[in-house]
Amino acid sequence: MSVLIKNGRVVTAADDCRADVFIEGERVAVIGRDLTLPADRIIDAARRLVLPGGVDPHTHMEMPFGGTESSDTFETGTRAAAFGGTTSIIDFAIQDRGASTIEGLDAWHAKAAGRAAIDYAFHMIITDLPGHRVPEMRRLADEGVTSYKLFMAYPGALLSDDGTIFRAMRRAGEDGTLVCMHAENGVVIDELIRIALAEGHVGPKYHALTRPTRLEAEGAHRALAIAEVARAPVYIVHLSCHDALTELRRAQERGVMAHAETCPQYLLLDAAAYDEPGFEGAKYVMTPPLREKWNQEQLWRGLRSRHLEVISTDHCPFCLRDQKELGRDDFSRIPNGGPGVENRMSLIYHHGVNAGRIDLNRFVELTSAAPARIFGMFPRKGTIAVGSDADIVIFDPERELTISRSDPRTHHMNVDYSAYEGFQVRGYTETVLSRGRVVVDDGEYVGSPGDGQFIRWGPYGGAYAPLAASLRQEPYF
Ligand code: URP
Ligand code: ZN
Ligand code: ZN
Repeated sequence: MSVLIKNGRVVTAADDCRADVFIEGERVAVIGRDLTLPADRIIDAARRLVLPGGVDPHTHMEMPFGGTESSDTFETGTRAAAFGGTTSIIDFAIQDRGASTIEGLDAWHAKAAGRAAIDYAFHMIITDLPGHRVPEMRRLADEGVTSYKLFMAYPGALLSDDGTIFRAMRRAGEDGTLVCMHAENGVVIDELIRIALAEGHVGPKYHALTRPTRLEAEGAHRALAIAEVARAPVYIVHLSCHDALTELRRAQERGVMAHAETCPQYLLLDAAAYDEPGFEGAKYVMTPPLREKWNQEQLWRGLRSRHLEVISTDHCPFCLRDQKELGRDDFSRIPNGGPGVENRMSLIYHHGVNAGRIDLNRFVELTSAAPARIFGMFPRKGTIAVGSDADIVIFDPERELTISRSDPRTHHMNVDYSAYEGFQVRGYTETVLSRGRVVVDDGEYVGSPGDGQFIRWGPYGGAYAPLAASLRQEPYF
């Protein structure tokens, strides 16, 4: 199968030019002006942007949490991602405490195989790492899982102590893999939750009030300090506020090998959402919580100054009815997480590029190239270059839509609300190719479950990769 995309404006993190793109099989074969190569299909992309498919390095499909499971399966969630212009996700496999990480990986393979609409990879959530399990990290890397997530939050469930975090980081630094950190002081947060509930504060808003920014900043500071001593790169996930950004900036300035992502919800939504009437605030119970509005401009600045390098979604949807309801009388029982995998590209295009906060190349970098690079998959993913996977989005920069749960053009996620209900955007995904195959054709899904494959991701490829490699020859002790 060959496809010729003609007359588009091809934009990557580095380039911006009028060109045709010829795809043969799964890969980009030729990029040039006025190509006349014979093709099975010709797509006219005049007045459209031709972008590398989005890479969302933080999603949770079918994730067990608080007695339920996130409501998007690998089938529904990846299809919704495709509609929104994302062609690769990195989801999270989970190690059961006391069990092997390899078993955890097998369980996630079983959930995703044959179901995904787009390519996927896994980070491994490590919940405990006694000395005898440390070599499993290398085995995971050999299986194509080259990053791990450890939690400073959720005591008794996912939290890892500082010794475990250090062990994991040190090994990752030696192997050339990467630890992602959920940075929050979960132990103190649990005390605040206990006090709030004892005082009768049970509503969703107390989720935010018991997770102050200072405790996210403390977690970030600690994660960065441990990484510094372990001489390993670290990636802070879902950074939500100015306090944590300040810690990141300070650490980067003193030479810590630190990367961080933020998410559309922290750039565009704020804590006032918890005041929505009745139990509606539960829609925004996610961790970290939404912050006071003034943090948003600080995060945009962090993206511009490159202290923040990635915009992911942390897509982890739970239906308001039946699932969020589990915490109607106790906010600490509301499953944590919100939807967004479908909305990221348009939201960031509109509020970033259209609003003059970031340019088009930076948009591609934040949503595609940087996550592909950091997690070891560039230039196979994250760009349009000869030889790269033909994961391509044809994006109409003039199309105006209002995001709504009730508009079938903007909502394919398996969840009964939109976190961005009523948000107007200019700029929308029209057609999507995943490894050369058209999966969304002018807004219609034409793919099938199983089009997406598990992709073995490579070693850590961020800015500090050469340093990490030299650490391999020069261990700390
Ligand atoms: O609320 C969230 N973010 N749920 C997903 C789990 C996590 O911490 O990323
Ligand atoms: Zn997290
Ligand atoms: Zn998450």
